[in-house]
Amino acid sequence: MDRRNFLRVVGGGVILAAGSGLVACAAATPPEALAAWQTPGTGETDVRRWVLSYAILAPHSHNLQSWLVDLATPQQITLYCDPTRLLPETDPYSRQIMMSHGTFLELLDLAARERGLRAEITLFPEGVFGPVRPDQRPVARIRLVADAGVTRDPLFAQIVHRHTNRNAYDPARAIPDAAWRAMAAAVAPWPLRFGHVDAGAAQALAAQRAIAIEAWRIELTTPRTILESYRWLRIGSAEVAKHRDGLTLLDPKVVWLERLGLFDRSKAPAPDDSATTGQLDEFNRKLATTPAFLWLVSPGNDRVIQINAGRAYVRVQLAATAHGVVMQPLQQALQEYPEVAGPYRDIHRVLDADGQTVQMWARAGFAEPVPPAPRRGLDAHILRG
Ligand SMILES: Cc1cc2nc3c(=O)[nH]c(=O)nc-3n(C[C@H](O)[C@H](O)[C@H](O)COP(=O)(O)O)c2cc1C
Repeated sequence: MDRRNFLRVVGGGVILAAGSGLVACAAATPPEALAAWQTPGTGETDVRRWVLSYAILAPHSHNLQSWLVDLATPQQITLYCDPTRLLPETDPYSRQIMMSHGTFLELLDLAARERGLRAEITLFPEGVFGPVRPDQRPVARIRLVADAGVTRDPLFAQIVHRHTNRNAYDPARAIPDAAWRAMAAAVAPWPLRFGHVDAGAAQALAAQRAIAIEAWRIELTTPRTILESYRWLRIGSAEVAKHRDGLTLLDPKVVWLERLGLFDRSKAPAPDDSATTGQLDEFNRKLATTPAFLWLVSPGNDRVIQINAGRAYVRVQLAATAHGVVMQPLQQALQEYPEVAGPYRDIHRVLDADGQTVQMWARAGFAEPVPPAPRRGLDAHILRG
C-alpha cells in the first residue's frame, strides 16, 4: 500500500473503525494546557499579575502567544513581542502579530477596569517598529492607575467564554439583529468600519465564500506557507501539554499517522495528496453552511491602527459571545504574500475597501461549542519581575 492510498484509507475512517485502541486516543485537551482558563487571577496579590492572567486569554494568530512582559518597575507593565514567535511567510509585515498584541491590551484594559483601575497605555514608547517586523523595543508601556471614574465593562465577563470556533455552523440559524448591533457597538471606541453579510444578501454571501475557499486553497498548496503552519502544529496530547501553544490537533487519525511516521511535518504535501484535498473538502463544507461573515476595515494600516484593529476585533468577539454567536477569523485572503494577491484584491473590492485595509474578516454563526485553546500560563510570559 503506497503512502497516498494509506492516507485515503485512514481518511475514510477504516483504521479508526478497526481498533478501539485508536478511538481511545481521541483525547481531550490535556488539563495542564487549559489551566490558565480556570479562575484566572486566583491567589494573585500583585494586581498586574491579576490583569495579565486575563490578558493571556486573548486570541492570537496561530495561538503563538507572542506576549512578553517586564514587571521590574513597580506599578508598570512593559509589553514586548517575542521575536521567535512570528509568521514571516503568511504575515510578512507582522500585521496580525500587532493585532494579536491589540487583543491582549484590550483584555488587559477590561480586567483593569474590573479592579477600578485605569490602564494608561502608551503604545511604542521608544518608537514605532518599521514596516516588516517587531524589534527589541516595547510594544506598549502600561501604568495601572486607581481612578474612581473608571467604569466596568460587561464584556469582561465574556473573556473566559470566548473561543475561536472552527466547527461547522448551523446554516438555518440566522444571527439576530440584537447581536449584530452589540457587535457594531463594541467597535465604537475604535475608528474601524464594522460590516457584515448574511443570507439576506445571498449573492454577496456566495462571493465571500468563494474568496475564502480560493485563499485557503492557495495557503494549503503553497509549500512555504503550509510548512509555516506545520511548524506550529501540536499533534497529540503529549505535544499539546508540552508546548501549550500553536494549533492543536488531537484527531486520532492524524495522531496515528504521525506516530507511524506517515505525516512528515518537514515536507509540504502535493496539491493532490489526500492531506491537502481532505482539508480543502472539509473547509469547503464548512464554508458552504456558514450563514454570515463580518469584517473590520481601517482607512490606514500603521502599527497603531493594527493594534487598535486587534482591540476592536476581540471586543466584537466578546460581544458576540454574550449572544451565543461564535466566529472564526479567515485571514488567508487578507495576507500580504504574493501568491494570495488575487483573493486579497477580491476581498477588498467586495467589501468596498479599495485603498483601505481589511484588518479582520471572519465567518460567524451558531455551532457546537469547542474547548478552550491551550495557554502557556502567565509565568511563561514574564521577562522580569
Ligand atoms: C489576528 C488574528 C488572526 C487570526 N487568524 C485566524 C485564521 O485565519 N484562521 C483561524 O482559524 N483562526 C485565526 N485566528 C484565531 C487564532 O487561531 C486563535 O485566537 C488561537 O488559536 C487561540 O484560540 P482562541 O481564540 O480560541 O483562544 C486569528 C486570531 C487573530 C487574533
